[in-house]
Amino acid sequence: MNLELLEQGAQAVQTAFPAAKPAIGLILGSGWRTAAAVFEERGRLDFSAIPGLGNPTVRGHEGTLLWGTCSGLETFVFLGRRHWYEGEGWEGVACPIYLLKALGAVLVILTNAAGGIRDDLTPGRLMIIDDHINAMGIHPLTGPHDAYWGERFPDQTQIYDAKLRRQMDCAADRLGQTLAHGVYLATAGPTYETPAEIRAFRSLGADAVGMSTVPEAILANASGLAVGALSLITNRAAGLGAQPLQHEEITAAAETAAPMIQRFLQELWKDLAEDQNADCLRL
Ligand code: HPA
Repeated sequence: MNLELLEQGAQAVQTAFPAAKPAIGLILGSGWRTAAAVFEERGRLDFSAIPGLGNPTVRGHEGTLLWGTCSGLETFVFLGRRHWYEGEGWEGVACPIYLLKALGAVLVILTNAAGGIRDDLTPGRLMIIDDHINAMGIHPLTGPHDAYWGERFPDQTQIYDAKLRRQMDCAADRLGQTLAHGVYLATAGPTYETPAEIRAFRSLGADAVGMSTVPEAILANASGLAVGALSLITNRAAGLGAQPLQHEEITAAAETAAPMIQRFLQELWKDLAEDQNADCLRL
């Protein structure tokens, strides 16, 4: 990975937003775009102005970094993400995580659209990612070791922060909602899966499937950020639903969940801002 390029990206953001001190990062994947509305905007920067990030090539991924606040908590919201399958290497995938760490953030929340494999994971449900399976066949930390990303062999026993997962449950609970929990499996894409692959993934322990999030979670965890991740289930995985899979249908399904997602994020940010002291979080 070209860390010099990532450092140039961090400097470009610091130059554009000299007063920015984000505590949290939020990466909005397919269909999550409208969640940005819950943040009071302090600044906006095109991905193309950030070396290493470049322009997303996926429809529905806007390609903007929004500097904003919610419940007074300074947040960098990435509207869109880069994927390995776009064919431009790991820098674009790693850049948001590198930036967050460089600017002093302590926590990142990753979001995506995913296909539901487990029976209860039907379109419109939100799933807290408890753990993942990297079935991408590639790894973002391949190559010379750099201490920016922590140790050479990072522990993977708890990538997704337990306290943050409880906070997500609490926030949903206050809204009268129950979120699903599960294991997210990432493929490299860009094809959707075959029904045989989905049967295989189910037997491996996967609850939902998608083409992102795992590399960012690995990098963020290795670099010492607390990591939370949410899948919005937009479709039943291949072979489990009546229709063939299409990107437009998946993003449309995601848009209908927008009001619920916005309320949930507002509620979660309230908790995060209140220094994570809600009663139900006490062990
Ligand atoms: N497979 C892979 N990626 C996805 C899916 C899926 O079923 N749904 C949304 N993103």
